[in-house]
Amino acid sequence: MGNENIRNFSIIAHIDHGKSTIADRLIEFTAAVDKRQMRDQILDSMDIERERGITVKAQTIRLTYKADDGNTYILNLIDTPGHVDFTYEVSRSLAACEGALLVVDAAQGVEAQTIANAYMAVDQELDLVPVLNKIDLPSADPEKVTAEIEDIIGIDASEAVLASAKENIGTKEILEAIVKRIPSPTGDVAKPLKAMIVDSWYDSYLGVVILLRMVDGELRAGDKIQFMASKAERTVDAVGYFNPKPAKSDVLKAGEVGFMTASIKDIREIDIGDTVTNPKKPTSTPFPGFKKVKPVVFCGMYPVDSANYEDLRDALEKLSLNDSSITYEAESSAALGFGFRIGFLGLLHMEIIQERLEREFDLDLVSTAPTVVYRITKRNGEVIEIDNPAGMPDPSEIDFIEEPVIAATVILPEEYIGGVIQLLISRRGVQKNIKFISKTRAILEYTLPLGEVVMDFYDKLKSVSRGYASFDYEMDGYARGDLVKLDILLNKDKVDALSIIVHKDHAFYKGRDLADKLKDVIHRQMFDIAIQAAIGNKILARTTVKAYRKNVTAKCYGGDITRKKKLLEKQKAGKKRMKSVGNVEIPQEAFLAVLKLG
Ligand code: GTP
Repeated sequence: MGNENIRNFSIIAHIDHGKSTIADRLIEFTAAVDKRQMRDQILDSMDIERERGITVKAQTIRLTYKADDGNTYILNLIDTPGHVDFTYEVSRSLAACEGALLVVDAAQGVEAQTIANAYMAVDQELDLVPVLNKIDLPSADPEKVTAEIEDIIGIDASEAVLASAKENIGTKEILEAIVKRIPSPTGDVAKPLKAMIVDSWYDSYLGVVILLRMVDGELRAGDKIQFMASKAERTVDAVGYFNPKPAKSDVLKAGEVGFMTASIKDIREIDIGDTVTNPKKPTSTPFPGFKKVKPVVFCGMYPVDSANYEDLRDALEKLSLNDSSITYEAESSAALGFGFRIGFLGLLHMEIIQERLEREFDLDLVSTAPTVVYRITKRNGEVIEIDNPAGMPDPSEIDFIEEPVIAATVILPEEYIGGVIQLLISRRGVQKNIKFISKTRAILEYTLPLGEVVMDFYDKLKSVSRGYASFDYEMDGYARGDLVKLDILLNKDKVDALSIIVHKDHAFYKGRDLADKLKDVIHRQMFDIAIQAAIGNKILARTTVKAYRKNVTAKCYGGDITRKKKLLEKQKAGKKRMKSVGNVEIPQEAFLAVLKLG
């Protein structure tokens, strides 16, 4: 079969617009999966992903479809992660395709990630097939959404497919559109091997599995290959496709998408976006390079029980087998003991990893507030980067500090514009653009310090817009900021793990708020605990947690034993995530109290 019967495509969409449900329908229709075998949303294979309804690891499925023109087509559906933290993975997955379904919720319309993903696809010169999903909803307004797609994304949406993945409407039309409107891959089997690494993951039986988009040439088990960036050479063990279970095949040919294994043990040897070629006859046109993804958000993680330090190290080692974007480094804190400073691609990535560490590895952890990487130029000319506020040099040594900034896009109904702009300003946002995309919805473009976004920005945005604002961002370099380190002292001892970096103009009220918040979460003990917020030697705020007066159970009158038990259990549960600093017990919430600041 020639390439003309192959289609390589992705589905791109804003979160919750129905990407996974549509994928399920396509799989069902083409019967790649037996109905009984079909679990909900087969593309989201990890439990956490299923629970959160997001897709983290890109995967691919090969579908066979007999079209109305009488020909049988192979449709490779390459899944893309939907979230902003995984932008680079999205762009590589798209680079492996000739086209994409642009799924938009017909009731909600274009949202921030619709735009970000569509632009990325247009940059890769993909053909987009707009699909208006959820037309079963009474509030669906396909005409309005068609106009939004045309106005904002600038593509013709007059032939958008109307679909309801829920009611299985439009599935065949989508398949026909893929065949008719997305071009077949070009590429030449006679040319030297050229394949792009789209994704890779660790499999305990096979070692590292590499997802490849074949561009030129052929690949078989036994072939010698070279990774062009690292120059490493290997021998291929096996090649195959996902149906959706992995199925070995004899050969992968130009235009196809499939996997390869080559006895590779460490995923860190593999760079997404790198070119695989034949070392004896290398391609003369490797892909234009790839980007090492760099973590942008960091936090400290410490085992509640310091005896579990090695377990935490093992868990991180195992997790990074499957996620080479996490970085971790041993660190110690006077307050928290021995732990690790872990780097993530973004906040969602951080939450996922924290959850996996606790769930899959059964670890109790205390984590510190997230922080970004600050670049500090010292008076002696030295430039250092710090990912932990505790590492900030003495102000007398600092010439200036730079912080990472982002270009943010917010789409929202007009009634929330005032509140959202207020929030953006309070987070030091600078407006770049504001325009209406329809009579009732606007798009705001702002630059913001990333450090302000890691501090609970999403939740605030959701609450001021009642969940109606969508948000997306890209990194936009570094900018100077008038920043200072705010320290917290408990009974006059500085607690390194509670230090944060804030803008000078916000230091006073943040210090005061933080001291108040800490007072709320630090439990009473046998003695008074003085909480102070300070910059250098200057105390900005002070509060006190008063000593206990009586036993907590004393207020359980009448010997209600179940109630008493409950209270004690609650106390015990609360105790789990405590760290003692000096003689003061600090609960986990205290380390994250900073996220709750206004
Ligand atoms: P992420 O994986 O989080 O990016 O979301 P997604 O885009 O894959 O969306 P998903 O398929 O998980 O669908 C989101 C929600 O919309 C789910 O509750 C679906 O049941 C629902 N949904 C999907 N398609 C339709 C549809 O055609 N009509 C209606 N009414 N609901 C739908």
